[in-house]
Amino acid sequence: MTQSSTTSQAAGTGDLSRGITGRGFWSSRLAFIMAATGSAVGLGNVWKFPYITGENGGGAFVLVYLLCIAVLGLPILMAEVLIGRRGGHSPVNSVRLLASQSGLSGRWAWMAGMGVLAAFLILSFYSVIGGWAVSYVGTSLSGQFTGQDAEQIGALFSGLLADPGKLLLWHSVFMGMTMLVVARGVRGGIERAVTILMPTLFVLLFIMVGYAITTGHFGEAVAFLFWPDFSKLTTEGMMMALGHAFFTLTLSQCVMVAYGSHLRKDVSIASTAVTVSVLDTVVALLAGLAIFPIVFSNGLEPGAGPGLIFQTLPLAFGQMPFGNLLATLFFVLLVFGALTSAISLLEPVVEWLEEKKGMNRFGSTLIAGGCCWLLGVGTVLSFNEWSGFTPLDMFATFEGKTLFDLLDYLTSNIMLPLGGLLVAVFVGWRMSRKALEEELSLRGPWFGLWYGVLRYITPVAVITVFIYNLL
Ligand code: TRP
Repeated sequence: MTQSSTTSQAAGTGDLSRGITGRGFWSSRLAFIMAATGSAVGLGNVWKFPYITGENGGGAFVLVYLLCIAVLGLPILMAEVLIGRRGGHSPVNSVRLLASQSGLSGRWAWMAGMGVLAAFLILSFYSVIGGWAVSYVGTSLSGQFTGQDAEQIGALFSGLLADPGKLLLWHSVFMGMTMLVVARGVRGGIERAVTILMPTLFVLLFIMVGYAITTGHFGEAVAFLFWPDFSKLTTEGMMMALGHAFFTLTLSQCVMVAYGSHLRKDVSIASTAVTVSVLDTVVALLAGLAIFPIVFSNGLEPGAGPGLIFQTLPLAFGQMPFGNLLATLFFVLLVFGALTSAISLLEPVVEWLEEKKGMNRFGSTLIAGGCCWLLGVGTVLSFNEWSGFTPLDMFATFEGKTLFDLLDYLTSNIMLPLGGLLVAVFVGWRMSRKALEEELSLRGPWFGLWYGVLRYITPVAVITVFIYNLL
């Protein structure tokens, strides 16, 4: 991380959550924003948001998603950063400390444990999708998109999915890169790179939107994304919108708690959290605005599923001037966005192994990354050999879901919202109001607004969506 450590053991060992001794602070508010945005912005914005929007019929889903970000995601993001900064330790210990200060059971620390588990499960399939992006870097470089029509581009993608060997290779490459960075703890380097790469991704998305405007179907896409048709909204869709708000902001996984513990006391948590949420949302919406005009102008199916961006953007690249160059750049940046998210999630697991089991960094990275890689093989096979393997068919909710679908569902739709609910209850109902006021130092009605939302709206919303989904 771009942090100035108070001791000499800084960057080399990746010491983000190292207990009281030697805990550094972010060098600036901007450094925190960059790191948090690096974790938040990734495949969730560019890959997942467009495809679940397509599957759920557009506008109404987007509206619910935006509401979820504003009303649930943002307050919980603030609450997590607050836990971290007030606790000043690694996530588990911060929660334990704050719980004991309020005379609560140490079992609240389990909340953090579930978060680490969710992160681990997500990373296992995230790496497979990250692998698709890596593979598309090669495809772009070799100019395979040039002049292809929708069918040929589609065949290119289905060819990749049908080949377990290729998927495994790229999954291994992605996980390998993540492990390499985490094992060497080259935080300074990667963070510095991110401060250049993320803005470039932003610019590139703008160029893509610019191209999308020329397709003549931009208006249709805008209407699709922003004109709510509530007849298309299902309860499962609402659940997905809720879960995705947590997924995309990397909530409930201790990441924001860990990052918050390195934030200086004089930085405003609220305005920082707003900045991160807005940046994350803007990237997702830009991706949608770049993708859907291409979908409509080529008569593609918006509900095509996880392959959506891999079947649409290459079409556009194939027709643009300098298309191969731009495509290569785009997929490289996408891989970087995905890597910064992946690193932020492997790091806590590795630190936990180091702290608890006394392993060295190399060994713990190998074990954590290795287990995650192994689980990822299940996702690799979900797209080919095991595509008919839907083990939980006996439950209506899980019917027809492959291993990948199940992992995605379990983490995004159940574990993350549940974690968010616990954070809201912990901070909203269990910590003293005085402590919260002190930590947030919000003026006027803002504190009351945040507090009220966290205490009443967040729990009620999460529980309602849960119950609806079970009925
Ligand atoms: N926030 C990341 C994104 O939008 C995704 C993410 C959330 C993630 N939790 C994760 C990635 C755990 C890897 C592991 O892309």
